[in-house]
Amino acid sequence: MTSRIALVTGGTGGIGSAIVKRLASLGHKVATNYRDETKAKAWQAQMKAHGVNAAIVPGDVSSPEAAEKLVHGVEQQLGPIDILINNAGITRDTTFHKMSALQWQEVINTNLNSCFNVTRPVIDGMRNRKWGRIIQISSINGQKGQYGQANYAASKAGMHGFTISLAQENAKFGITVNTVSPGYVATEMVMAVPEDVRNKIAAQIPVGRLGEPDEIAYAVSFFTNEEARWITGANLAINGGQYMGW
Ligand code: CAA
Repeated sequence: MTSRIALVTGGTGGIGSAIVKRLASLGHKVATNYRDETKAKAWQAQMKAHGVNAAIVPGDVSSPEAAEKLVHGVEQQLGPIDILINNAGITRDTTFHKMSALQWQEVINTNLNSCFNVTRPVIDGMRNRKWGRIIQISSINGQKGQYGQANYAASKAGMHGFTISLAQENAKFGITVNTVSPGYVATEMVMAVPEDVRNKIAAQIPVGRLGEPDEIAYAVSFFTNEEARWITGANLAINGGQYMGW
């Protein structure tokens, strides 16, 4: 398999770490961004203990300027980016009638505007080199909505609108653009949901449990494969059967 250069935003999180590990295990060179240097260095050491060399570059993806610097930083350390995983995301859950403008903006900026901020400085290089893989990590809640997540669901639904437009514009340049929509995966983000609420949600999953981060990373790596070259504009739901759209 050709070794590629990959940027996974939010790579230090639960799903992000699993994606970093899996792409590295396939022989790719992988980088992620960070906002907190001490935490990122500890994460990098942990990865190393698992035999994974991951580059870390500072950059808040919610800022266009910081994201551009991040991309240049990755290019300097590893080279031009072939695979971009827009994975960084946050929640600010609350019912809409209680939601502040800040709770709305933080989620839209980090989850959705980040897709513009990071992809914009990457896309020209992919088009020039006639190869690229761009994958948005959306959510089941972008597909079905969720009580308490008007901000998050809007951002995650928006990510797939971004995917299907970019997929059309870049197909002839050897670039595929796809979305992966995870359901409830056992990560810090999901564990932050109050236990009683979480248990009720888990009871709605036909497979009978929360997902594992590596079950998401597996699907992400599938889209990055050379042989996945005819798959573009797709939205792959991975949610234990909790939501079956078509
Ligand atoms: N459907 C209908 N009613 C619901 C409901 C639902 N799904 N969830 C809560 N309610 C009702 C409660 O029964 C309660 O009703 P009563 O007042 O009549 O008793 C009322 O809503 C509570 O409303 P409040 O506005 O007082 O809500 P709250 O401040 O207690 O908290 C909440 C509401 C923040 C939304 C909380 O329920 C919550 O955290 N829900 C989980 C949201 C969620 O799924 N987040 C996912 C995070 S992980 C993630 O996002 C990853 C991913 O991609 C999947």
